[in-house]
Amino acid sequence: MKRNILITGGAGFIGSHVVCLLVNKYPDYHIINLDKLTYAGNLANLKDIEAKPNYTFVKADICDFENIQNLFSKYAIDGVIHLAAESHVDRSIKDPFAFAQTNVMGTLSLLQAAKLAWQNDFNTKLFYHISTDEVYGSLGNEGFFVETTPYDPHSPYSASKASSDHFVRAFHDTYGLPTLISNCSNNYGPYQFPEKLIPLFINNICNNKALPVYGKGQNVRDWLYVIDHARAIDTIFHNGKIGDTYNIGGFNEWKNIDLIKIMIKVTDRLLGRKEGESEKLITYVTDRAGHDLRYAIDSSKLKNELGWEPSLQFEEGIEKTIRWYLDNQNWLDNVTSGAYQEYYNNMYNNC
Ligand code: NAD
Ligand code: TYD
Repeated sequence: MKRNILITGGAGFIGSHVVCLLVNKYPDYHIINLDKLTYAGNLANLKDIEAKPNYTFVKADICDFENIQNLFSKYAIDGVIHLAAESHVDRSIKDPFAFAQTNVMGTLSLLQAAKLAWQNDFNTKLFYHISTDEVYGSLGNEGFFVETTPYDPHSPYSASKASSDHFVRAFHDTYGLPTLISNCSNNYGPYQFPEKLIPLFINNICNNKALPVYGKGQNVRDWLYVIDHARAIDTIFHNGKIGDTYNIGGFNEWKNIDLIKIMIKVTDRLLGRKEGESEKLITYVTDRAGHDLRYAIDSSKLKNELGWEPSLQFEEGIEKTIRWYLDNQNWLDNVTSGAYQEYYNNMYNNC
């Protein structure tokens, strides 16, 4: 079937993997990638597919409602996969307004544009919103987030994502807009901006720079390889039940300090250093304000109803990821110049 699918945030980390997957897998679909190209958006992530006839890039801000309306009509959009967001918790602590603007108002602008463009016939239309497990808050030592876990966000980032999820459900319940939501755990893999734990630490190990561990390194995150997230998005977009929510995760919990030691071991080995030598770079710094202790996703619904499972074991995924950053020093150098240096000095001047 011919479809015109708008993917927002397609120049970012996860979005670029989703765009590449769909452009290659569905030559009959026209994929329109809409991205504002903030510091986190990088067209170099898309070089493998940029010349494909079924791909179009549009530089735009999701908050610019009039322009979004025009784009819905210009490209006859019939499906949306919405990933555009401000995504880094530490930035949200410094500048919460940018998060409310893009994550809440931007999502509302897309929802309203979709509703107005599709109102005469919601059949065959779909608005799929990509969210995070962080909306559920923080777990103690036991238990998992399921789709019915009450929302309890603690950071400005997770509060803004929770708010956008509520707007999506409100548009479904109030106007009948065909919507889907998925909430995924922490992603890792190629093309992640090196402000997030894994690429930041790989880069710092390579450059013999301090590794700033927040608090005592006891917080737990549940890690999923980004291509498995992209596969899950493809599955849910095509087979998800309208109005439903799906949790995505790989049952792969790691305490930060244990994950960091594994990254050090593998990176040292690949760099020809003595394994564990870079542990001397570990520097415990002041904890993140409002730092959630533990995230853990139960993705049984997605497995039982839609048959999705992660394809990659963590040991393989982390080594593949570290190799990718070591082999793509140019990509890292490009994104870690200029504005990044300023951000880095500002954020990590305490270690
Ligand atoms: P990212 O920060 O790498 O990319 C975000 C993209 O959105 C960038 O390309 C940026 O230019 C674009 N963007 C930002 N503001 C925009 C605006 N106003 N208009 C248009 N484009 C804009 O983020 P990511 O890690 O790829 O996350 C993508 C989505 O997945 C987000 O919605 C995030 O909440 C969600 N998510 C992320 C993770 C994770 O571990 N990274 C986990 C679960 C869910
Ligand atoms: P991050 O990659 O920012 O993802 P999120 O906060 O969305 O889970 O951080 C992952 C974990 O690593 C989180 O518990 C915070 C911690 N962390 C550090 O200890 N040091 C750092 O420099 C960063 C960026 C994160």
